[in-house]
Amino acid sequence: MSDTHRICVVPGDGVGAEVVPQALRVLRAAAAACGFGLEFDHRPWGSAYYREHGRMMPADAAAVVADAEATLFGAVGTPEVPDSITAWGLILSLRQQLELYLNLRPVRAVPGTPGGDFAMLIVRENTEGEYVGTGGRLYAGTAAETATHTSVFTRRGIERAVEYAFRAVPEGGLLTSVTKSNALPVTMGLWDEVTAEVAARHPGTGWERMHVDAVAYQMVRAPGRFDVLVASNLFGDILSDLGAGLQGTLGLAASGNVNPQTGVGIFEPIHGSAPDIAGRGVANPLGAINSAAMLLDHIGRTEAAELVRAAVDATLSSGITPADLGGNRSTQEMGDAVLERMA
Ligand code: NAI
Ligand code: MG
Repeated sequence: MSDTHRICVVPGDGVGAEVVPQALRVLRAAAAACGFGLEFDHRPWGSAYYREHGRMMPADAAAVVADAEATLFGAVGTPEVPDSITAWGLILSLRQQLELYLNLRPVRAVPGTPGGDFAMLIVRENTEGEYVGTGGRLYAGTAAETATHTSVFTRRGIERAVEYAFRAVPEGGLLTSVTKSNALPVTMGLWDEVTAEVAARHPGTGWERMHVDAVAYQMVRAPGRFDVLVASNLFGDILSDLGAGLQGTLGLAASGNVNPQTGVGIFEPIHGSAPDIAGRGVANPLGAINSAAMLLDHIGRTEAAELVRAAVDATLSSGITPADLGGNRSTQEMGDAVLERMA
């Protein structure tokens, strides 16, 4: 492992640009405490870049991201530019170009809040399924208007997501394969078959198949029963927002877009640019800081990642919270509080 890791940093728009600097302070402190270096390659991609250059990021952006050991991303989106340009012009495009086929979303109980004890990882397939966008309209504007939208599931796509998920299950833990093959027997039928094949390669790991509606119910009722869930693009998207809701706020939730084969990873809070609160310095930076902890795991710095997570937990346990968790601490003050607990 090299002594200095090169990290690409894309703060983006709105609160993305407010929370990422706090995550960078925390990353620097973690690196100093654990005795390694970090070199940040800052990239000003986003809506301001778009206004100047007519595109959200330069043509070589994917190569820049691929070249770094990992990327920390904030968020994009601004009321003046359509989401089709901001999202598709940056983060969705990078996910596709770099084939970041896993979207990893850990969901943990928030210390110091009611809601029980739970820790699960949602592994969402990130490149195919319901979100491939094939379909169209027929007879638009007439009484016969017809819309189709086709899901695309491939053996390869399912297999690589499920394989990763099985390997992520902790000793003695449970893998839940999220399905809906009762109502969607074709696509989810393939999902179930491939999952069973992959499961056969992991005889020591407990697993179950559960319909997505039942998973939603159980996540609310008994979140502690889950360890790792693997889900299609659509199901994983919805369940991970449910997970963020279980944590009490979107402001805490972290994610990673990863291709384990190439090692490319983009880590980002799951929230967007939050134009309703941007510019006021009140955004919760813990989602970005938790994403930075995932980034540290990804580059092999587990000890540093644990240090960050422990400091976040200690901050919340002592009742220090930003507005979205009912407190009054600013973005900067939340960063200060986490840093104090890493010393
Ligand atoms: P959003 O996540 O930006 O905001 C939803 C709600 O959560 C808002 O009330 C906001 O104030 C609150 N919130 C979000 N982050 C917060 C934080 N760190 N601390 C405290 N409160 C926070 O989602 P919304 O409003 O649907 O989208 C706003 C823009 O963000 C749109 O342009 C959208 O396309 C973009 N977006 C970008 C994403 C990305 O870059 N990956 C993901 C989701 C949305
Ligand atoms: Mg979502």
